[in-house]
Amino acid sequence: MKVEQIKFNFTKSGPLEGTINTATPAISWNFSGSEKNWHQASYQIRVRLKNESQWQEFPVSSSNSNLFVEWPGEPLKSRASFDLSVRVQGDNGDLSEWSEPVHGQVGLLVNQEQWPAKFIAIKNQPREDGETAPETLFRKSFFLSKKVKTAKIFSTALGIYNLELNGKEVAEDFLNPGWTTYEKRLLHQFYDVTELLNLGSNVIGARVGAGWYLGKFGFDGGLVNIYGEKRAISLFIEVIYEDHSTDLICSDDSWNAAYGPIVAAGLYDGETYDATKEVTGWSSDVSSGSYWAGVEVVDFDIARIEPQSFPHVTVQRTITGTVLPPTPKGKTVLDFGENIVGVPRFTNIKAKKGYKVTLRFAEVMEHGELGIRPLRSARCTDVYTFKGDAKGELYQPHFTFHGFRYCEVEDPEGVLDLQKLEAVVISTNAKQIGDFECDNVLLNQLHSNVVRSTRGNFITLPTDCPQRDERMGWTGDIAVFGKTAAFLLDCSSMLDSFLKDLWSEQQIRTSGPWPHAPAVVVPDVVKHMEHFWDKQISAIWQDCAVILPFSLFKATGSTNLLKQQYESMETWIDCLPKLKDLMLWDRTNVFLQLGDWLDPTAPPDRPANGKTDSYLVADAFLYYILSNMVTISGQVCRRNISKYEKMASQCKKDWLSKYSKETGELTSNSETAYSLAICFGLYDLEDQVKFAGNRLSEIVKKANYTIGTGFAGTPHILPALFATGHYEEAFQMLLTKECPSWLYPVTMGATTIWERWNSMMPDGTINPGEMTSFNHYALGAVASTMHELIGGVSIIEPGYRKFKVRPQPGGGLKRCHVEHESPYGLVSSRWEISGDDFTLNVTVPPNTTAIIDLPDGRSEEQGSGKHTFECKI
Ligand code: BGC
Repeated sequence: MKVEQIKFNFTKSGPLEGTINTATPAISWNFSGSEKNWHQASYQIRVRLKNESQWQEFPVSSSNSNLFVEWPGEPLKSRASFDLSVRVQGDNGDLSEWSEPVHGQVGLLVNQEQWPAKFIAIKNQPREDGETAPETLFRKSFFLSKKVKTAKIFSTALGIYNLELNGKEVAEDFLNPGWTTYEKRLLHQFYDVTELLNLGSNVIGARVGAGWYLGKFGFDGGLVNIYGEKRAISLFIEVIYEDHSTDLICSDDSWNAAYGPIVAAGLYDGETYDATKEVTGWSSDVSSGSYWAGVEVVDFDIARIEPQSFPHVTVQRTITGTVLPPTPKGKTVLDFGENIVGVPRFTNIKAKKGYKVTLRFAEVMEHGELGIRPLRSARCTDVYTFKGDAKGELYQPHFTFHGFRYCEVEDPEGVLDLQKLEAVVISTNAKQIGDFECDNVLLNQLHSNVVRSTRGNFITLPTDCPQRDERMGWTGDIAVFGKTAAFLLDCSSMLDSFLKDLWSEQQIRTSGPWPHAPAVVVPDVVKHMEHFWDKQISAIWQDCAVILPFSLFKATGSTNLLKQQYESMETWIDCLPKLKDLMLWDRTNVFLQLGDWLDPTAPPDRPANGKTDSYLVADAFLYYILSNMVTISGQVCRRNISKYEKMASQCKKDWLSKYSKETGELTSNSETAYSLAICFGLYDLEDQVKFAGNRLSEIVKKANYTIGTGFAGTPHILPALFATGHYEEAFQMLLTKECPSWLYPVTMGATTIWERWNSMMPDGTINPGEMTSFNHYALGAVASTMHELIGGVSIIEPGYRKFKVRPQPGGGLKRCHVEHESPYGLVSSRWEISGDDFTLNVTVPPNTTAIIDLPDGRSEEQGSGKHTFECKI
């Protein structure tokens, strides 16, 4: 038995993985090994603080839990680093080896010490005008007269930044410090730079762009200077010498600043880089360049700074494209073959000084040209001016990103080598931990499209889309998709930060029509705009406060997360407008229920006007979150269980009497209405469920198996059909290629999940709605059905302590494989049909049990190990 994957809360240790954000992190580990029926009986933890040579071994704990166990020692000090190792004993008495030590690093904890560095900006920086947001370069030289043992940078910025030390990039990461509710939380990053320092003279350089903090952001033209007016850096280098003495080199008013070669950069509009303005050696030689100005100290409440405890945005991979034939307008376009999120990169290109190339990006082509209408006001254009370096030039934008498959290249003299122009794919570096594969290539493509959309939209937080003038943390999208996301990517640490922001925004919102309600987008930029969205609350979107932590709890087993968010959840339930006598939404003052958002029958310009009564949807979700609150309270606040039980049962009763007849027939005769009623357990009687299943299957057949659900119904329609025994219909629906359906976009060449079922119409034109993206993950929640019902893996006890493997073959599939690296270790289900023989191979991780349900009705409980089952089908 091997202990692996040690985590501190949700944080993995390692470069660019984030740092620990508390003095007493809970420790988790998982296992590799295929011992049969292995259960942990006890564990032991040992810790070695930096500078100590001895391990401190903590007493053996006889707990069988390997998840979120309490920090065993004294609280850690701010900025402490340590090694930690775990060994476990099984109930068979066998003791494992000590695990490979993992290195833990605590960030700066503001409740223990002050952030020692100043925030500095270039003197007299003008206000942003929304068009030009140049970068600021900062630098400082410092001298180290003794041999350095370790050197670490703790850094953050108002804007987005990159660091250079002695002319070398400190790390290849992007968009730091990420986007959080800056009014309450600003994340700091951490880098180990021991290797980059010299004995003697050193120079630290920082380049800072506008980013979310002060650059143009938001729809309908957007705003500038949303959070402040100055691009500022704040960092310190903690140096520990070999003789154990220490130094702190902090940003302060002795630094210098200048405007750099990035003459304009916006997240939406792209970057304009003028290499003729570069100063060679700007971050290695402080005598370089003549125009360096002084800096001024900017006020910032340092109590808001906290360690980033989730992975940085990093390069995932790079791809090259193929050149398309010239467009009707004579343009040159590169096709990268997949719809990705990132930036371009060219290297080693020679051109004369002052020569300019322009790169424009789009997700699709329309009428043979770049389809830029869906981008709305986002210009998505990078411009590079060469300095004329005979050795060749390299360019990769710093302070922007694009969602694209196609790149239009304006390069009149043809200096670029288009075969070598790369697309650099970026994402918050959450490891992929879940996958699906079967013998149907279209379903495999659909699943990989879901993964690609998740990647592309996880850029420091879960966004709706990565390309148009939006890219925001819409709460409804991640509410319906969170469960799927947590299966596919190890994203709990990032979503944990997002949930802290969700609660922060609730605390900030003290006035307006809905004090303390969660925002529709987190961080809430809408509150800065004169916009109806600011006055808007809606089921599902605000319900994210309950749904997302609940989904993460199930996926990870973390009750700490539930404790952290409980006040946020309760606050939302309290302020959710309810009728006096009925436990249903009070419609007064609610401007718009988004309902089954983007039901394909809704008019393109009115996506909330689907065929399902939006209050039937809202009230079904009210019941759903109230029932979640019963389970959640059972974990963190038992005295509230009966309160939520009462509320939930009242809600169910009121829902049934308002929307259902005795038979189970609903007031909205729609897929979504019946799916929600079945999956949320809204019916009282078996006969009603049966009626609903039959009615649902009739509707589905009548629609010729095309889809009829939006955000609300899509995750539930196939589970509802399965739950009521309508497997045939479920498979037919999943495999339908006609528009609208899951596979229709796949047949149109999609490589991501689209926002609308028909973002691209069958004739190749873009959906006329002004809101049309080709990279929105919400409708990809169907992947969960593929994992749970086809592959067969679903959670019984939080964190997969107990899980079910119940494959339900159909749709002509002959084999299927689903796997997930659970908090305990690898869970896998692989089945195959040959003639009438069905074979299932299951991997059950140590310390868990699985219930295996075979298609012939046999059911078995199994402990850890690899198991094979066979039956006739
Ligand atoms: C976003 C959605 C979001 C919605 C809310 C859109 O503009 O892209 O995904 O949830 O607005 O109505």
